Amino acid sequence: MSSPLRISIAKANLATATRLADLGRQTFAETFAASNTPEDMAAYLAATYAPDQVLAQLQDPHCTYLLAEMQGQAVGYAQLWQYSRLGLAADAPATKQLEIKQLYVVEDWIGTGLGKALMRRALDIAQAEGCTAIVLGVWEHNDRAQAFYQRFGFREIGETAFKLGTDVQRDLILRKGLAGRP
Ligand SMILES: CC(C)(COP(=O)(O)OP(=O)(O)OC[C@H]1O[C@@H](n2cnc3c(N)ncnc32)[C@H](O)[C@@H]1OP(=O)(O)O)[C@@H](O)C(=O)NCCC(=O)NCCS
Repeated sequence: MSSPLRISIAKANLATATRLADLGRQTFAETFAASNTPEDMAAYLAATYAPDQVLAQLQDPHCTYLLAEMQGQAVGYAQLWQYSRLGLAADAPATKQLEIKQLYVVEDWIGTGLGKALMRRALDIAQAEGCTAIVLGVWEHNDRAQAFYQRFGFREIGETAFKLGTDVQRDLILRKGLAGRP
């Protein structure tokens, strides 16, 4: 029997953008609402998950959204960028390293292997595109996600500021070298 999980590259249309924006808003709130003020959360959600903004990202040739569905229900997603400056010197140009900007699984599905399936697809894309590494930022207090990334061999290489509403938070920069690179 085939698996009910389907992971596809999201198409660039407004309906998909709206679906991803809803999913992004829901999963970000599920993960971080308890650790932030309602005002900061509202400001961040409004600024980040507008369907028009997500549509523009879907139309950008350097951006890929992976959408995970279980029997037609959206249960997780990842937002990937083929070029990134994350972890590089301040004046360095973006290089071909895949940045995972967002990786989220709906609360009820956490711990069921969905995150792993999304990460494997991201790794496949990075390899196929000839990226030298995968990089990402993770909140310093997001222990669950850090443990997950560690399982895939990511290591800490620095830190960066992440603005959530008015609150400036500390994200750790994690990197996993590809194609035999450290
Ligand atoms: C981080 C996240 C994407 C991981 O996805 P997931 O579906 O929960 O993880 P999986 O079930 O695929 O687990 C994959 C592996 O990581 C391990 N893992 C998952 N959570 C873990 C935890 N809290 N501690 C230790 N290991 C963990 C699993 O045991 C599994 O290892 P295995 O392959 O050896 O069995 C998911 O928890 C999530 O969406 N969290 C909320 C949003 C978030 O924090 N996103 C990251 C922002 S940077």
